[in-house]
Amino acid sequence: MHDPRQNLDTLLEIALNELGQQVTSDEVENWERKYIGKTGIFTQRSRMVGQLPAEERAAFGKRINDIKATLLQAYADREKLVKEHELARDLEQGQIDVTLPGRAHPVGGLHPSTTTLREFYAIWAEMGFQVYRSRDVETDEMNFELLNIPAHHPARDMWDTFHTTTPGVVLRTHTSPGQIHAMREFGEGGTQPIRVILPGMCYRYEQVSVRSEIQFHQVEGVAIGKHIHLTDLKGTIAEFARRMFGADKDVRFRSSYFPFTEPSMEVDVECLLCGGKGCQMCKYSGWLEIAGCGMMHPVVLRNGGYDPSEWSGFAFGMGPERMINLKYGVKDIRYYWGNDLRFLEQF
Ligand code: DAH
Repeated sequence: MHDPRQNLDTLLEIALNELGQQVTSDEVENWERKYIGKTGIFTQRSRMVGQLPAEERAAFGKRINDIKATLLQAYADREKLVKEHELARDLEQGQIDVTLPGRAHPVGGLHPSTTTLREFYAIWAEMGFQVYRSRDVETDEMNFELLNIPAHHPARDMWDTFHTTTPGVVLRTHTSPGQIHAMREFGEGGTQPIRVILPGMCYRYEQVSVRSEIQFHQVEGVAIGKHIHLTDLKGTIAEFARRMFGADKDVRFRSSYFPFTEPSMEVDVECLLCGGKGCQMCKYSGWLEIAGCGMMHPVVLRNGGYDPSEWSGFAFGMGPERMINLKYGVKDIRYYWGNDLRFLEQF
């Protein structure tokens, strides 16, 4: 062929016609190769421009480019249409559509109480405290008597108790009975210093409400040694609070009462929400309560095998769920064991 302009219109018509008959992606690709690919008919024609007299080349160039643009557009349209059809057909036939984003597998997460407990363990471990697990079901003697809370003592009202069908056996109302177990197990007859924390679930026979649940965690702590003073207690608890809530937070100690400590205190941290100015969360006091604590009562030390004239110690009790409430502004304690994913997924 000598004149590249020969039959161009007819060729264009044939090409477009043919394109309309291609129904699979492969067919459309083949069509592309045949007409506008590297060795395609129209590509070859455009290369033959040199065979034309110089003054006719520009007009030919423009024409062939227009045709190629038309073909490219038609090709793109066809390709899109065919792909859509193929996808629809695949979906109908139940084949995997690899163009869809993957379906996320729901992976479990750790319960906020678990992550907080682990934070506790890490902080207390750095201060030399071992984790000691003690039982959930206790004797009345361990839960109360040995902690200096005799039967009929008015202080028992502080702990509404679940009793079991076995007389004298209760669900522990606090982790404090673990103090007795730890002293007896690790104190070696009151001859060894100990430093432990006692995490675990506690149970109280209470009306479930926004503020109280029948079960919750506590983390008890005990340190016993030869020269342990109130300053050690204060410094240790303050250091914990700084690590847990931030070094810039103030901590204060208020006097309180617990039968197993003397003196007893409650610990407050500067309100995490308002920074001490006063807000709804801290009931406009500027402070949030985080723990009960005190110097171990001589009676309790003696019940653990120690001679209180030689040994002293401090103890504390904290509620991790309480702290999560403070940290994240959780308003309802019932969320913790309500098994509602909408709550759990937020952590
Ligand atoms: N057992 C107490 C309670 O459940 C908390 C507590 C207060 C524990 C003071 C302690 C302590 O060890 O020294 O309310």
